Amino acid sequence: MNSRQGPRPLPRTGAVGGVLEALAFFRDPAFAQTRFERHGEVFETVLLGQPMVFIRGAAAIDDLLAAGDGVEGWWPESVRQLLGSRSLVNRNGPAHRARRRVVGQLFSAAALRRYSPRIVGLVDELAAELATATAPVPLAARMRRFAFAVIATVVLGLEGPDRDALFVDFEIWTQALFSIPLALPGSPFARALAARRRLLARLQRVLERAPQLSGGLDLLAGGLDELGVPLTDDDLVEQLLLLLFAGYETTASSLSCLMRALLLHPPVEDWLRQELQTLPWPPTAEAAASAYDPQRAPQLNALVQEVLRLTPPVGGFFRRTTRPLTLAGVAVPAGRVVQVALAASNRYAPEPPAGTAAAATPLDLNTFRPQRHLEGATGATLLPFSGGERVCLGKALAELEIRLMVVGLLRQLRLELAHDQDLELQLLPSPTPRDGLLVRAQGA
Ligand code: HEM
Repeated sequence: MNSRQGPRPLPRTGAVGGVLEALAFFRDPAFAQTRFERHGEVFETVLLGQPMVFIRGAAAIDDLLAAGDGVEGWWPESVRQLLGSRSLVNRNGPAHRARRRVVGQLFSAAALRRYSPRIVGLVDELAAELATATAPVPLAARMRRFAFAVIATVVLGLEGPDRDALFVDFEIWTQALFSIPLALPGSPFARALAARRRLLARLQRVLERAPQLSGGLDLLAGGLDELGVPLTDDDLVEQLLLLLFAGYETTASSLSCLMRALLLHPPVEDWLRQELQTLPWPPTAEAAASAYDPQRAPQLNALVQEVLRLTPPVGGFFRRTTRPLTLAGVAVPAGRVVQVALAASNRYAPEPPAGTAAAATPLDLNTFRPQRHLEGATGATLLPFSGGERVCLGKALAELEIRLMVVGLLRQLRLELAHDQDLELQLLPSPTPRDGLLVRAQGA
């Protein structure tokens, strides 16, 4: 951009009501990509009456994440209502930061060391179930159960009937997260609002019993709000509800997509197994949190990055501009909702200057090739957990869960895909194999 010319005007798709755009958004996985190719890295369209600016690529995303108080958090109305007004995702400035500080205590290095042996136990339970199953097991459902157990039992300390009741309400609640927020009697949204009330009441009782529970809730004791006053229980239970939501679907999706990718690419599985053979299983209780970290298991780390790149559990996240911004040289007015199109960004690298060595080797960002992450920069901007002051709070826990599950299952079993199943991915709310990833196991 020539700085004397000032920012370029915001390109628009021409959509007005946004009904057809919204249909295309939900149905067409290449929705964002085709529009980026037509309009450039920043463009505006309308989805069901909601104007939305889409961005991809390092230049625009870096500008957005560096905008400080020029942006605030934003989520669709259905998410906003179901998570609640106190939830930290619906807060900004000091109210957001204070709640992140409080909730972040559940994900410190010391907290993860505490949780690790129990996560190892859950992995071993699943390995034993798979090893003894006499019919194909739907692995995606098992990954959901595992991710839910980690957050509900290991982190929050819930057991038995408490956890099962929470799981049932939680599935009802999740189904309406990205629905139309009209509480018509019998609608998914109305049922989800009722489930929300039950979930909050149950979480309230959990909080009262926190000192006797075995999870990490004692770590929250003494958390202060932005004025230095302890957070009320009403406030805390909304943060716990958020953790159940944020920590479960996403991690389950990444685990299912990872196992699917390995089973579809046997040479990659062989390549990974060479590294896994050098690693112990089970890890000792003291070492479990760090036994498979990127320094010790670089190939595993590359695999996780590649799965999060090609099948990101969160396809995009949002901000609203509070003043006019320039993103990658394009003027975005105040009050605009911006969607960072993670899924599209992950497969996009700006063209290298002509005549350079990089220009001579075309990047194939659509193929599954974990090795690329060991060869230096991939060319794409990879932010599956977002970045800046709203970066995912559970990143370290999610990565730990994924590493423990992959090492634990593969060291104990060889999995194979059952025949006659649809392995295509259903993309919303997070990618997952359509037929649930049916697998059979043999000893490794
Ligand atoms: C592979 C798994 C996961 C992925 C890919 C993921 C990704 C993300 C992304 C993209 C955001 C949006 C950040 C933004 O608005 O800029 C986010 C937010 C968040 N995530 Fe995760 N997440 C995962 C797992 C988890 C887990 C396990 C937890 C906790 C148990 C968690 C807790 C949160 C919270 C609390 C936020 C809100 C942060 C804020 O607004 O300040 N996530 N995550």
